[in-house]
Amino acid sequence: MSTKRISLTQYLIEQQRGEAQIPAQLRLLIEVVARACKRIAINVNKGALGDVLGTAGSENVQGEVQKKLDVIANEVLIEANEWGGHLAGMASEEMDDMLGVPNRYPQGEYLLLFDPLDGSSNIDINVSIGTIFSVLKHQGGEVTNESFLQPGTAQVCAGYCVYGPQTTLVLTVGKGVVLFTLDREQGAWVMTEDNLRIPEDTKEFAINMSNMRHWAAPVKRYIDECLAGKEGPRGKDFNMRWVAAMVADVHRIMTRGGIFMYPWDKREPNKPGKLRLMYEANPMSFLVEQAGGVATNGTQRIMEIQPTQLHERVSVMLGSKNEVELVTSYHREAQ
Ligand code: F6P
Repeated sequence: MSTKRISLTQYLIEQQRGEAQIPAQLRLLIEVVARACKRIAINVNKGALGDVLGTAGSENVQGEVQKKLDVIANEVLIEANEWGGHLAGMASEEMDDMLGVPNRYPQGEYLLLFDPLDGSSNIDINVSIGTIFSVLKHQGGEVTNESFLQPGTAQVCAGYCVYGPQTTLVLTVGKGVVLFTLDREQGAWVMTEDNLRIPEDTKEFAINMSNMRHWAAPVKRYIDECLAGKEGPRGKDFNMRWVAAMVADVHRIMTRGGIFMYPWDKREPNKPGKLRLMYEANPMSFLVEQAGGVATNGTQRIMEIQPTQLHERVSVMLGSKNEVELVTSYHREAQ
């Protein structure tokens, strides 16, 4: 890419005028979310000095213990988004039900879904965490939980922010994937990659290996073959990485390729998977597909799943095209 620095604002104005023709409300929405991510980044960076580490003493709708930063990030996103007139409602991994826009503010056209702080188990140990978001168009009428139950193919924008050694914002409005890095001195998002592409092949996989004994046969077959290395059926050695924050694992794949899997397993057979369809799997699938990758639940394209609940869970396999297609073919053969 050229050395000329493009700010997020300039990029969005160009997207408004150009090919993507994003409406003004969507542009505002993205700017507001990006600004909220800056505020979250400031809190993350303060760590113990800002008294933001540790648990909040509450549980979220899925019975998970909330960390202080889960609660702070959720509040920052709500406060930033409720007054701009761009939203009809919001839904968060940290809230039982969707949240409408207060009556005193105008209602907009969009629905915003977010995982305010992904990878909570990394917060207190100073390892990368992030915010993931997805944007849908409100189809009209009263805003209820059902308004959000649209398949991933209906997303008009998705993105994530990684709070790591650098703070980066990765974004799609359906015309490829762009990466911005936070320039802390200027307080500005600066574009540092204008077209992220995931290589089709990879030698790197990401999966929580400690669950191996619980996996279904197709996942076990795929990983066994990777582990067999050069001498095995794949004829090449594989490497493994697991940050335990989906946002950071996916970011690695967005920048250098790889396959990420959090598959269904036998620990809780009635649960389709661990990760959330609406706040994690759909936005990441949109980004991955826009970067030339593939995202399935083993048998189906994730973005084509018709959600039935706000907090629905799903099995996830995403990343480099040829690897995701291979593990998906193993699932289909086993059906
Ligand atoms: O949201 C759940 C999450 O924190 C993901 O970000 C991450 O990929 C996964 O859980 C880690 O799970 P485990 O604790 O099994 O490593």
